[in-house]
Amino acid sequence: MSTYWRSAADDEAMQDEHGFIWEAMLATIDVDLAGKRVLDAGCNRGGFLRLLADRCAIAEGFGYDPAAAAVDDARRLAGDRPLRYEATDTVPAGWTGFEVAFSHEVLYLCTTSPPTPARSTPRWRRAAPTSR
Ligand SMILES: C[S@@+](CC[C@H](N)C(=O)[O-])C[C@H]1O[C@@H](n2cnc3c(N)ncnc32)[C@H](O)[C@@H]1O
Repeated sequence: MSTYWRSAADDEAMQDEHGFIWEAMLATIDVDLAGKRVLDAGCNRGGFLRLLADRCAIAEGFGYDPAAAAVDDARRLAGDRPLRYEATDTVPAGWTGFEVAFSHEVLYLCTTSPPTPARSTPRWRRAAPTSR
């Protein structure tokens, strides 16, 4: 496990820079996220799920990322929002039943699964049958 993806300062700057992209992502989807269980694969410091909790009233948000220090930040920044974060490089055991899944700027980093037919569906996707 790494501490931060890049560094504490770089990960914080990335979160700030990605805010407008997350807004654009929300503008393109046709799903009402209110009351939904949402997964964010590669959540870094958790900013996207905080946006969904604050703006879209999701029921629960689940984010994971191998950058353990960034996940610590995500937990601290979550406050009393209904958000959970884990430091791992795949969907944690027991995290199921997602209605929507997001993963922004992460798939190109997932080099551990060879693109064979048997492994072509990432675990996060199988955990989110209705994901977009
Ligand atoms: C470019 S950043 C994007 C972070 C976040 N999704 C965003 O929109 O700001 C890529 C993130 O993917 C994470 N990552 C790398 N390998 C991963 C994996 N196998 N599963 C989930 N996340 C991974 C990195 O730690 C990093 O936080």
